[in-house]
Amino acid sequence: MKLFVDTANVKEIETLAALGILDGVTTNPSLLAKESGDYRQILKQMCQLVQGPVSAEVVATDTEGMLREGRDLASIDEHIVIKVPFTRDGVRACKTLSSEGQRVNVTLIFSAAQAWLAAKVGAAYVSPFVGRLDDIGTTGMNLIREIVEIFDNAEFPTEVLVASIRGPIHLIESARIGADVVTAPPAVIDQCFKHPLTDSGLARFLKDWEQAQAAKTA
Ligand code: E4P
Repeated sequence: MKLFVDTANVKEIETLAALGILDGVTTNPSLLAKESGDYRQILKQMCQLVQGPVSAEVVATDTEGMLREGRDLASIDEHIVIKVPFTRDGVRACKTLSSEGQRVNVTLIFSAAQAWLAAKVGAAYVSPFVGRLDDIGTTGMNLIREIVEIFDNAEFPTEVLVASIRGPIHLIESARIGADVVTAPPAVIDQCFKHPLTDSGLARFLKDWEQAQAAKTA
């Protein structure tokens, strides 16, 4: 399973990319709105840092506008993946952009039927939002199970990109189910690094080593 980071902050991407764990980036208008500076330059920097797929979302809501914005976003860098919302206009835009050879990420997926329709029009990725489903009292991961099963049965090449994750458990469950990609906020990736037994284990190893060295030189 590939790991993308869900952020529009270049510094955060730089730090994670340096660890060698990052396969791509997802952004959305809310995340980009938090950053200062020109969004095209920000997206370009991200592409240079990760050298992998960077999802950039259109804000137009009509097909023609989505096509115009999508083509413009794609002109920024070869790594840009055009993100469109799952609406009728988004589905039409996905069909056209995909047939032009662009990679499209259909976002705001909350049902298996939506994911199936997006795959039918050539989406490179579908982004089901598990955390937001959990937030309304349902089990978001059940949707991932359904979509992975459907895409396997239909042999769709569309990748299941698990979005809106809230913690490492969502990440691990996604990997167990067989999702293709998970996009995690930096805070969730940080949580994956933390374990008290790793910290105490390392402290013990170092202390034992120091004591042994001191005993040898005494
Ligand atoms: C995915 O592409 C979205 O940007 C993101 O995962 C949404 O997450 P949220 O529900 O935490 O805003």
